[in-house]
Amino acid sequence: MKTLLKLLAGLVALVVLLAGAGLAYLFLTYPAVPPADDVRIGATPERLARGQYLVENVVGCVVCHADRDWSRFSAPVVAGTKGKGGQRFGFGVEPFVLYAKNITPAGLGEWTDGELVRAITAGVSRDGTPLFPLMPYPRYGKMSRDDIEAIVAYLRTLPAVANDPVPARTLNFPLSLIVRTIPAAASHAPRPDPSDRVAYGRYLTNAAVCADCHTPIDDQGTPLPGKEFAGGTAFAPNGVGLVRSANLTPDAATGIGTWTEEQFVEKFRAYRGQAPRTLEGNERLQNTEMPWTYYAGMRDDDLRAIYAYLRSLPPVVNRVEKFGR
Ligand code: HEC
Ligand code: HEC
Repeated sequence: MKTLLKLLAGLVALVVLLAGAGLAYLFLTYPAVPPADDVRIGATPERLARGQYLVENVVGCVVCHADRDWSRFSAPVVAGTKGKGGQRFGFGVEPFVLYAKNITPAGLGEWTDGELVRAITAGVSRDGTPLFPLMPYPRYGKMSRDDIEAIVAYLRTLPAVANDPVPARTLNFPLSLIVRTIPAAASHAPRPDPSDRVAYGRYLTNAAVCADCHTPIDDQGTPLPGKEFAGGTAFAPNGVGLVRSANLTPDAATGIGTWTEEQFVEKFRAYRGQAPRTLEGNERLQNTEMPWTYYAGMRDDDLRAIYAYLRSLPPVVNRVEKFGR
């Protein structure tokens, strides 16, 4: 009996030791991202113009890192809150909650340019905390280094908005451990020449994070194979109603196969230069998660390139009821 107890105690000790060693390994080895480089990004007029275009109309920073006016369709960014952070992202599986951070100079004052590049493209905060990939660093890490530097230069010019402290995130187990393994060194590729429509469109579609909403995922967050851009991901915008992302593949019956390039561009252009309608008179107060007003500022030629890329995808049959129960 005694020997058995001793054996059991020994086993328990071994398991605890192994778990401890595993945790130590996880914390010492991950996030597996090189240190921030000590680059200094000068604010040239070209950089600022490019950065402004990307941040305000393409890559989505201020869709998440700002307040949104959910009383209007597609929830435009509230003036004076660009970069302020504090937007809450819940997933209906408490206690899992994220908060976008303050990325105005009031929040990033102490950060070096290299630390910012690393956070945006490799997913590690200034103090080494691994970021959850709802912050789309895996996508930004594939953009050109030039475009990322333009984004950083422009962020420095945002009006400082105090918003401290943004509440801390809560990740449940085992996500709290898994999140350490996700950050990875950026793999910048040059921006393709706009004359290569499909390659340039693919670059923009990645940078604009379209797939994060339009490619359905399983409950582990893995994209469903064969369902790239096929839509169907459900959202409750600001906690109200139900909207599903559209099928953007060229299937004629269930995707955008019958849309002309002009119709595609016009969908976005319709939101240009005007405040979108309010939800009053709309009984269900149904809003959309699709940031139409934000993307409306994208250049026609860039929207056309995105269209060219979407047309090059394999058509997927997937009927989506966008607004519904
Ligand atoms: C889909 C929403 C979303 C988009 C788009 C997005 N972010 Fe974030 N970002 C977040 C969230 C949420 C966090 C916090 C993640 C966490 O706590 O793990 C974050 C964290 C950050 C951080 C780390 C700040 C800190 O104090 O640790 C930086 C820097 C940042 N984002 C910059 C950007 C920039 C620049 C862009 C555009 C190029 C951008 N983000 C686009 C949601 C987003
Ligand atoms: C935050 C989530 C989100 C992001 C990011 C997003 N979409 Fe959407 N999109 C939706 C949802 C939800 C709908 C369906 C509701 C609607 O039409 O507003 C939609 C609808 C659309 C439609 C209308 C299709 C139809 O059948 O009417 C097009 C076109 C579209 N998105 C293209 C894009 C492109 C291109 C991008 C990237 C530049 C993008 N979306 C990024 C959520 C998103």
